[in-house]
Amino acid sequence: QTHKILVLPGDGIGPEVMTEAIKVLKAFESTSHTFTLRQELIGGCSIDATGKTVTEEVKQAALDSDAVLFAAVGGPKWDNARKGLDGPEGGLLQLRKAMDIYANLRPCSADSPSVSIAKEFSPFREEVIEGVDFVVVRENCGGAYFGRKVEEPTYAMDEWGYSEAEIQRVTRLSAEIALRHTPPWPVISLDKANVLASSRLWRRVVEKTMKEEYPQVKLVHQLADSASLIMAVNPRALNGVILADNTFGDMLSDQAGSIVGTLGVLPSASLNGLPGDKTLKTRPYGLYEPTHGSAPDIAGKNIANPVAMILCVALMFRYSLNMEDEAQRVENAVRKVLDSGVRTPDLRGKAGTSEVGDAIVAAL
Ligand code: NAI
Ligand code: MG
Repeated sequence: QTHKILVLPGDGIGPEVMTEAIKVLKAFESTSHTFTLRQELIGGCSIDATGKTVTEEVKQAALDSDAVLFAAVGGPKWDNARKGLDGPEGGLLQLRKAMDIYANLRPCSADSPSVSIAKEFSPFREEVIEGVDFVVVRENCGGAYFGRKVEEPTYAMDEWGYSEAEIQRVTRLSAEIALRHTPPWPVISLDKANVLASSRLWRRVVEKTMKEEYPQVKLVHQLADSASLIMAVNPRALNGVILADNTFGDMLSDQAGSIVGTLGVLPSASLNGLPGDKTLKTRPYGLYEPTHGSAPDIAGKNIANPVAMILCVALMFRYSLNMEDEAQRVENAVRKVLDSGVRTPDLRGKAGTSEVGDAIVAAL
């Protein structure tokens, strides 16, 4: 099988961590899988070269590929000059919109390589982290972040609205992810149905969709504020698929990151559906990106941690390319290397970016 991958290294440490991720990807080239890589510009480097943070050509390339690997964009050179959709991060927003990747996934598992180091770096006690295993699915194309805005000197308003269709599709995707586990994971849906009208629709549509289409998956409704408390004191109680709208999902997924206690190791996936989804009108799209930014303070020094970007390759195998075994092999290799002490300075190690990448390839 040939997989078409669009590679977007971006700015700052982006190209450095991407180089390591590509090394890992290439290690899986075999008679059964080959990868056609197309590398393009996005963010600051694209502004410098084309005047645009992302060109129509690159957006089209994303729509023509099986998956997109994205590193990071931005830096002091562009951050003040350009804002919003025209700024470096605007390129990513435009790409998300073009691909309609409405579900943002952030896994957090005590078994995962990123959380195995949590023992040392997390502010949480070890017995709190032990056995944690959940994925936050954040609705990423609607809600308060995309609604109508009013901004006056003494009044401001953000419209926080959802349609039934928007809620349905992210519910289905969450249930499909729950079903990938045996026995199926529960879906824990967050809302504030006690005070928000949009949350009442959210709860109703999630309830109906799950009951009619996924009766075998357990559904729990949880008020978003209390979910945040539970995540701080007993995160295991949220094991499963945590389904949340754009705002609550943003909060909760960052809070989930705090369990690990360090940047540089957390991958994420943004999807418009999963392979095999019959309701899809396009092919399934997936964009994989680390949760950190372009870290201009350490760019060019070969000290950036490539682990988050490398774990994005594992997520891409899992969610876009139907290569679950290979995904686990990447994760196991990363764990082995981190446990062996080959780590970048952010994890109090002495290894360089490329050394970590090489060690992971060797462990494969
Ligand atoms: P950042 O995540 O780039 O950096 C925060 C801190 O974490 C820095 O001290 C950095 O050195 C460190 N860090 C981040 N990733 C690391 C890694 N892989 N290995 C080792 N250390 C790492 O966030 P910050 O400083 O707020 O933003 C820097 C630039 O990145 C800005 O221009 C911002 O707009 C952009 N940014 C881009 C994002 C994206 O492309 N999706 C997301 C967040 C920020
Ligand atoms: Mg956030």
